[in-house]
Amino acid sequence: MARSAIINVMVQAAMKAGRSLARDFGEVQNLQVSLKGPGDYVSQADRKAEEIIHAELSKARPSYSFLMEERGAVEGEDDQHRWIVDPLDGTTNFLHGIPIFAISIALERQGQIVAGVIYNPAMDELYTAERGGGAFMNDRRLRVAARKTLSDAVITTGIPHLGRGHHGHALVELKNVMGEVAGVRRFGTASLDLAYVAAGRVDGYWESWLAPWDTAAGILMVREAGGFCTDIKGGQDMLDAGNIVAGNEFIHKALLKTVQKSI
Ligand code: IPD
Ligand code: CA
Ligand code: CA
Ligand code: CA
Repeated sequence: MARSAIINVMVQAAMKAGRSLARDFGEVQNLQVSLKGPGDYVSQADRKAEEIIHAELSKARPSYSFLMEERGAVEGEDDQHRWIVDPLDGTTNFLHGIPIFAISIALERQGQIVAGVIYNPAMDELYTAERGGGAFMNDRRLRVAARKTLSDAVITTGIPHLGRGHHGHALVELKNVMGEVAGVRRFGTASLDLAYVAAGRVDGYWESWLAPWDTAAGILMVREAGGFCTDIKGGQDMLDAGNIVAGNEFIHKALLKTVQKSI
């Protein structure tokens, strides 16, 4: 499968940052770690990976704007193109030596996500998607799972960390979903939750209180694998609303209905 020029740029940035993360993952006990708030960690590894991605993407497309987790928004001359970057999604896993973490890079053109790359360096799994061009893992085409009923479905989610609050609400959501599905998983990396939906490893995913860099690339991954993504109200405001429900046509619809019981 031939990759487009823009996907190549994104893959190169993700792989370079991935090598940096892989090195730091091997010596995680030596990393400088600070707290942004209770239960909300950031390390040297996050910052280094972000620097690499910023440098690589700027070199290839000097005018594009950025939205990055650690540096925030960086306006470029071209405000019609914006990179949305999570340099290390799953920092808590990373710092605990759990090999489920990823780099997530999305490209937005005039407010629409047109390309996405998610890379888990510990498992060497590279997910790529371009609008209208399908979704791939290590160049193998992805398709969402075919299960049609919630009672057969394995669903992944995320639950808010200590400082984020909303714990009561999250428990109600979880209880409602638990009562209807075959099983619930919590991997700790939103971008990979969406990539796993795209890959058909899980049947659906929902989560609230997210940031745009957690989901931007994953949303495209799911759509290009034939799946559906909406916010909790059933609209397309996932990035701003910070919540998301994903799955194939049937699971998305049923999961949305279940999650909506808590709003
Ligand atoms: C977090 C992860 C986690 C999700 C949190 C995110 P970070 O991102 O994606 O799965 O539940 O809401 O903040 O901080 O590790 O990049
Ligand atoms: Ca973080
Ligand atoms: Ca994240
Ligand atoms: Ca992060």
